[in-house]
Order: sequence, then C-alpha cells, then structure tokens
Amino acid sequence: MGTQTLNRKSATLDIKWVREQFPSLKLKVNGRPAAFLDGPGGTQVPQRVIDAVTNYFVQSNANVGGAYLTSERNDAMLAEAHRAMADLLGCEADEVSFGQNMTTLTLLLSRAIGRELGPGDEILLTWLDHDGNVSPWLALEEKGVVIQRAEVNPADCTLRLDDLAARITPRTRLVAVGYASNAVGTINPVKEIVRLAHAAGALAVIDAVHYAPHGSIDVRDLDCDFLLCSPYKFFAPHSGVMYGKRAVSSRLRPYKVRAQYDRLPEQWETGTLSHENIAGVLAAVEYLADLGRHCDPAAANRRAALLAAYEAIRNYERVLMEPLISGLLQIPGLKLYGITDPLRFGERTPTAAVRIEGHTPIELARKLGERGIFTWDGHYFALDLARRLDVEATGGWLRIGLVHYNTVEEVERVVEELKRIAASR
Ligand SMILES: Cc1ncc(COP(=O)(O)O)c(C=O)c1O
Repeated sequence: MGTQTLNRKSATLDIKWVREQFPSLKLKVNGRPAAFLDGPGGTQVPQRVIDAVTNYFVQSNANVGGAYLTSERNDAMLAEAHRAMADLLGCEADEVSFGQNMTTLTLLLSRAIGRELGPGDEILLTWLDHDGNVSPWLALEEKGVVIQRAEVNPADCTLRLDDLAARITPRTRLVAVGYASNAVGTINPVKEIVRLAHAAGALAVIDAVHYAPHGSIDVRDLDCDFLLCSPYKFFAPHSGVMYGKRAVSSRLRPYKVRAQYDRLPEQWETGTLSHENIAGVLAAVEYLADLGRHCDPAAANRRAALLAAYEAIRNYERVLMEPLISGLLQIPGLKLYGITDPLRFGERTPTAAVRIEGHTPIELARKLGERGIFTWDGHYFALDLARRLDVEATGGWLRIGLVHYNTVEEVERVVEELKRIAASR
C-alpha cells in the first residue's frame, strides 16, 4: 500500500505513518492481511501504548501514595493521565475520572443521581442508544422514576428531535443520549439536546463512546453535565473515563468506601484503578497528539494538536465513507441501515450496519473472517434499536466499522467480498 496523503482544508493524514504505529495491523489470516473493520467493538493500539503498559510494570508498578520511587512515579503518571484526558475532552484534570469501563461508571453515576430522584421524576432516553446508556437508568424505575424514550426515524436511523423535545416535561430530571450510535453511525445533535435539557432544569449526560475515535469533543462547548467514553475504542487499553462538570459532580454523593476521598476526581474512582491501563491511555492520547503535530507542526499545545488530529481523522474517514457506502449500496439484496446521502455524511461516522437477503449476519461475518476481514454481527448492545427495526430475532446486522487506520483498499476488499458472498446463493 502506497502513501495516501489526503489534503482537505488544512489537515493532512499520513496513512503510512499511522499504520506504522500499529504493530497488530501486520497480522495475517490464511495468508491474507487482516483488515480490522471492527473498531466500534474496540480498536488496535499503537506500539507506544504497548510500551507504556510494559514500562509501567518495569518502572512504576506500585499502589498510590507510597513514600518511595515507584509509587511516586505512579502518582505522577496518574496525574498526567488525568491532564491528558482533560486535554482530549476540553476540561480540567479534576473533572476526569477513570474507571473500569463506560458501563460501570454509568452505573455508579446513575446510583448517585438516583439518590436525588423519587416517584414521578422522569428520565429521557432514546431508542437509538447502546444499553450502557440505557440499563443503568432503567434501574431507577425501582424508585418510581418514569423513563421516557425519544423516537428514531426508521428510514435513516436518526433521532427525532421534535419527539425528544416534546418528551421533555417539567418532571424531566435527566436526559441521557449517545453522541453517536455504535450500531448505525448516526451522530446526534447533542449540543442542542443539552440545551433543551438545561432549559427544563434537567441534567444532561452524553455517552461519547462511539464518537470519541471519530471526532473532537469539547465538553465546555457542549455544556453537558457528564460525558463518558471508553479509551479502548480510541487506541488505548480497556478502561473507562467520565467527565463531570465540577459544580454538578462535586454536589453528588456517589456510593463509595469510607477511606475514599470526598473530593474530585477520586470520589468516582472506586478501589484501586488499573494503573497499567491508564499508563496506556496516556500514551494513546500522546499518540493522537503526535498525529496532530504530524498534520499541523504549528499546534501550540496538546489540546491544539489533538484538535488537529481529529480534523485530519474526520477528513480522512469522510474519504473512506464514500466508497464504503456507495459500494455497499450496489450489492444486490443488501439493505443499509442509516444515513446514505453523501451530502449528510457529516451526520454519521463510518460505521455501517447492513443485512443481505438470504444470508444471516453471523454467516457473513464468518465468511469475511475466514478471508481475514474482521467485522461484527448481532445487536452490539444497541438492543432496543435492533428490536425496533425488527432485526434482533434474525441475527441483527453485520457491522463494518472503520477508523483512521483503515484504508481505501480495505474498503474495496470488504465490498468485493460481500458482493461475491451475496451472489453465492
Ligand atoms: C455507544 C456505546 N456506549 C457504551 C458502550 C459500553 O462501553 P464499555 O464497554 O466501556 O462499558 C459501548 C460499547 O461498545 C458503546 O459502543
């Protein structure tokens, strides 16, 4: 594969440089190069992330707060990791909490917010969301909390903002919505949703897990109260991160052990964290910042470099999206769920959910897997959407999910293979 240097606006992504950073991309399956089109389920990691995890164990493996070298190194690393994630999200370091994953952090958050709710209080969710941003809130029904759900347009799998707005009432205490759908790629107008929530005096929580590898996040601009993401979806080890707006987050009383600090961010960081993974998260943010500096050597600081990286990522993924969607739509018997109009590609990520007549999603995923192409099948925990679109009982969808280390060649390859499989029956 040659260097594909894409120059749109000011941001240029050097795909050769990008792929050189990720050693696992060299994997072969039955003699063919592996194509990792499974990013929405978890991404590959750059060499520096692997090194950071290894180095943690060699140089800094200790618990926090000890009066000796490795513990001091660990404390310094953890502080820097909070600062790095703050640069990624556009907030202060004490507004960032690390946890096991997004779902565990959301369960903790829902328990804390639930302490302030009672019978008749309402929470507004959507039918588009991953269950990690649904079940933790449904759990509050046991307190008499009423759950509302905003409708989805079945034609293009976008949220019906009119329906969402109409469901916000004086009883609404919280609106929890995904930034982007991990199933069909729709990007939601989250800033507007936060505005609607706040206008009614409700809190706004954003699940940015699927969006975070694809676009820059600015929690101050969004004005959300909480935002959650999973670093393993953006080139880091398995872990979760929560942003909490200081004024709101410090007011809540999370369930925690007595010896745990009452201050931010520790009040949300239950027990001993996965330090080695957090060392990897720090390295992944540094990778993204270096990608940004590679695109824009004038980037003045880490936040500016991260914004440059995301601009390049977004431009590059847009270029991948065109052959992906148009190629898939040409396959006889294929149905694509989500936005297909190129003029609206700004409203989606390069995540495509499809079904092909006469083939189950698992069968498609297996056949692609044998040919070295890694995709996902099923409902991927976008359980309610799969049920509402009536695909859950018959195997869900096949999901082809691209990130910035994928190539036009890989897109052409998956389209060609699916064409061949579709014609084989
Ligand atoms: C949109 C979305 N939200 C939430 C989650 C849950 O994240 P975690 O695995 O970190 O709990 C996922 C995981 O796939 C996701 O895609």
